[in-house]
Amino acid sequence: MKTKVRQAIFGPLALAAVVATAASCGGSSAPAMANGCPVLSSPQAAMAGDTWQSFAQGFFAANCTRCHSSTLTGSAARNGAPSGLDWDVEATVKAHLDEIRDAVGVGNFMPPDAPMPNCDERKRIVAWIDAKAP
Ligand code: HEC
Repeated sequence: MKTKVRQAIFGPLALAAVVATAASCGGSSAPAMANGCPVLSSPQAAMAGDTWQSFAQGFFAANCTRCHSSTLTGSAARNGAPSGLDWDVEATVKAHLDEIRDAVGVGNFMPPDAPMPNCDERKRIVAWIDAKAP
């Protein structure tokens, strides 16, 4: 079901990514990429000790809350980020983990401009999500 949603969004690109990932299981070919970082479709191993407080909150503050914040009102102040998608609010993040995972670790289309997380940071937030966002 997750794969279907992604294919609906990314179409043939996602399909190509899935095929490329399957091919890479042999170990020789490079992982599928999107916007310069690996497409993390499969579950990522947890990084011990990462919690909302110790890691995720700071990740969203550094990369997302200049647009996605409960302190910003109106489309202009939010740079077009939809109202209600506020990543400074832990409960809201936890209600949108699937969309966040796709945006930051699969399609890699968020944030839309710099400052951006590097590939290791994307992988780390995905690992936090895959560990059920402790
Ligand atoms: C410069 C402003 C800006 C920043 C920074 C930003 N976003 Fe967004 N975000 C947007 C806008 C605009 C949209 C709505 C348009 C779109 O979906 O592309 C959006 C939409 C989204 C959506 C909904 C996408 C969907 O599936 O419809 C998610 C999830 C999201 N952002 C996550 C993030 C995360 C996570 C970060 C930080 C890593 C982030 N964004 C950083 C502007 C931003």
